[in-house]
Amino acid sequence: MKVTIFGTGYVGLVTGACLAEVGHEVTCVDVDPDKIARLNDGVIPIYEPGLEPIVRENHDQGRLHFTTDAAEGVAFGELQFIAVGTPPDEDGSADLQYVRAVAATIAEHMDAPKIIIDKSTVPVGTGDQVREVVAETLARRGVDFAFDVVSNPEFLKEGAAVNDFMKPDRIIVGTSDPHSEAVMRELYAPFNRNHDRVIVMDLRSAELTKYAANAMLATKISFMNELASLAERLGADIEHVRLGIGSDPRIGYHFIYPGCGYGGSCFPKDVQALSRIAHSVDHEPLLLDAVEAVNRRQKHRPFEMLVAHYGSVEALAGKTFALWGLAFKPNTDDMREAPSRTLMESLWAAGARVQAFDPEAMEETQRIYGHRDDLSLVGTRDAALKGADALVICTEWKAFRAPDFDLMRESLAEPLIIDGRNLYDPERLKAAGWHYYGIGRGETVRGDT
Ligand code: UDX
Repeated sequence: MKVTIFGTGYVGLVTGACLAEVGHEVTCVDVDPDKIARLNDGVIPIYEPGLEPIVRENHDQGRLHFTTDAAEGVAFGELQFIAVGTPPDEDGSADLQYVRAVAATIAEHMDAPKIIIDKSTVPVGTGDQVREVVAETLARRGVDFAFDVVSNPEFLKEGAAVNDFMKPDRIIVGTSDPHSEAVMRELYAPFNRNHDRVIVMDLRSAELTKYAANAMLATKISFMNELASLAERLGADIEHVRLGIGSDPRIGYHFIYPGCGYGGSCFPKDVQALSRIAHSVDHEPLLLDAVEAVNRRQKHRPFEMLVAHYGSVEALAGKTFALWGLAFKPNTDDMREAPSRTLMESLWAAGARVQAFDPEAMEETQRIYGHRDDLSLVGTRDAALKGADALVICTEWKAFRAPDFDLMRESLAEPLIIDGRNLYDPERLKAAGWHYYGIGRGETVRGDT
């Protein structure tokens, strides 16, 4: 089948490459000429395991094309995916200007029936807005081509996006049109393993499903983080509680890891956007707002723990802290809404220095914060410890799981670890003379400052 995708960001590129990988013909359109030139040279703008080889291979095989020419893109496919960004507005609601602009572009150039598919995460009701924009533009042109608007949200995890796309848990298709349904089923037939993964529903339900999935996952995390704070005060260990509740299949072991908060491009944005949607229909989203508030508080925990340990914010001035992990989660270089940022910014405001290492996110950190006197980005895990007062861990990269604790003790001025991801065994470290504070692990610094 012939498919056009508008937007070569994360979602668009993964979608395009994976559809080409199963044999579809794909044209990706982007307004950024540099990006398109680089993609044509096989250089991909993001770090995503497994993506570069399939982009290159399918491009070389002639099944994946990149262009800045919107007219060419519209002419190419019966299927027109919209996969452009929906950044949050100042008030947290999704900014739809790029989605609307692409809808207008498609309508401006179309000269045959098209199925227009929303892949971007968009507020409920956006599909209907896209329909209006297309209808108005066609009317202005004085032409009348048949078209349908379908919602087909993505559920990709960064770092696992190619695998998630190739082996989906479900493929949500929001349409009430039998022809669109048949075409979408054909498009995704290669991805049905063992049983049909396509779930068809009306447009608005599909749009809401995307937010519901992310909000539910964010709720699980904030719930565990709330319980972790309780566990600290009650002298219980959240890691035992986690295993204890996870064994109930209705709860399950997945996604109940406490930590220093969720980040990334989806959860924070989508929880806030869903809250805005709720307010727009006169519903106060008590639970969603609490999920967001708990997460905001949680991102401050590592800093609060340092303050509690040293006795005051002032006591942190002039100290140097080693930081392991900058990305919002392992296997990505993404720093969006990363808990490490909350920590670093608080430390800098307190007059402390940061000596950081991350296996992938160093360049991105440099890009965001530039060269500052109070930030050193060092090349290895162990170099980050040299001359530092204590260590804070914000991301659970595999390489942090089994460090040489003796070497660490020699490097750090004080045997202190604030572990925002609960990587180590508190008993073992305490027995070895460490001050070790995890999240929700019984006896710990309270940090109510
Ligand atoms: C998420 C969804 O998983 C994905 O389905 C959706 O399409 C986009 O949003 P992503 O943002 O890539 O994907 O990351 P994910 O692996 O889900 O982690 C999100 C955040 O939650 C990370 O900061 C992670 O550290 C945190 N997290 C996750 C926890 O704190 N505890 C957990 O148990 C799980």
